[in-house]
Amino acid sequence: MQIALIGIGKIANYQMQAITHTPGIKLVDAHDLDLNKAEELPGSVQFHENLEKMLQKSKADAFLVSTPTNSHFEVAMRVIESDRIAIVEKPLCTSQSEMDALLTAARTRKLPLYTAFHPAYGREVDWWREQRNSHNFDLGKLLGLNTCFADPYYIDGKLTLGAVGKAGAWTDSGASGLSALSRLIEPDSMKLLDGRMTVIPSLDCDQVQGLGIYKFVEQGMTCYGMIDTNWTLGKNYKTTHLRYEGGLVELDHAKELATLHQEGQDNLVFNLATDKPRLVNHYCGVFSDLTSMYAKGEDNTELSEVLHRLLFAAMSH
Ligand SMILES: NC(=O)c1ccc[n+]([C@@H]2O[C@H](COP(=O)([O-])OP(=O)(O)OC[C@H]3O[C@@H](n4cnc5c(N)ncnc54)[C@H](O)[C@@H]3O)[C@@H](O)[C@H]2O)c1
Repeated sequence: MQIALIGIGKIANYQMQAITHTPGIKLVDAHDLDLNKAEELPGSVQFHENLEKMLQKSKADAFLVSTPTNSHFEVAMRVIESDRIAIVEKPLCTSQSEMDALLTAARTRKLPLYTAFHPAYGREVDWWREQRNSHNFDLGKLLGLNTCFADPYYIDGKLTLGAVGKAGAWTDSGASGLSALSRLIEPDSMKLLDGRMTVIPSLDCDQVQGLGIYKFVEQGMTCYGMIDTNWTLGKNYKTTHLRYEGGLVELDHAKELATLHQEGQDNLVFNLATDKPRLVNHYCGVFSDLTSMYAKGEDNTELSEVLHRLLFAAMSH
């Protein structure tokens, strides 16, 4: 599969590294509004000053939209309206009406549409899925969970440089939390119970904090879970706690660590980090899944629709 990149910023750097580690995918073209970004490309990738021309001329099978979140809708729509396939960095867009318009445009043209949910491919998430599937630990039924995605993007009353390109704590990290959970519980069973957003009108972001409370069904039992996203804690802290009848599983998404707390036993700590940066590991998962979906003529639009509905429902609650 050949792809082209739109937006050569911080995340594109990790995406380009992951592409070199993933068999079956190659970056051939790229575009950015900032022409200086051409210098960040490897020699094998052709830079295009004009998006329209790249969409017309490129031999890429799909176009990866890695521009700031608030521009995802406009850029992805231009890709789709050019009858080309879009892969969009999460979140796909920032409102339900934008999502409906993108899905309609893609479906009308019978084009697949992919969302790159990188946090879903955390090594700690994969690890717990493997342990469960192999029945390596007997913790009984899941009772509930909480997920926190915090970044230090609001300090001393101001947004930090890390917030550049992001729409807001909930808009960006709510999508991250929901996508990680979608690999641990059944997303179709999730229903929003409450959404609480902290908006500071003088700041150029959707929210500095956001929380969603959901119920879901697991092994026939109704469980409750919370996703908390926060830019005001002043730290990079990303965890999921899964509370089972017989103990607690703590997945540290920032450190790629898993800790198992079992009743009456010493804690077990599993370090799942590799020699590659965490985000490169995530995008290796994204691209490996993407190439296999593309080969089968599939996409992840249905999952993306479910997760974004849950995301936007919390914003409008
Ligand atoms: N930085 C991270 O840690 C991170 C992690 C995961 C996901 N993301 C997501 O990736 C996306 C990009 O974030 P980033 O941190 O790389 O931002 P960034 O600001 O570092 O880079 C964005 C790039 O897009 C270019 N650009 C802006 N508008 C454009 C347009 N209309 N057409 C073409 N190019 C355009 C900019 O010139 C810039 O080079 C966001 O949606 C963000 O939520 C970022």
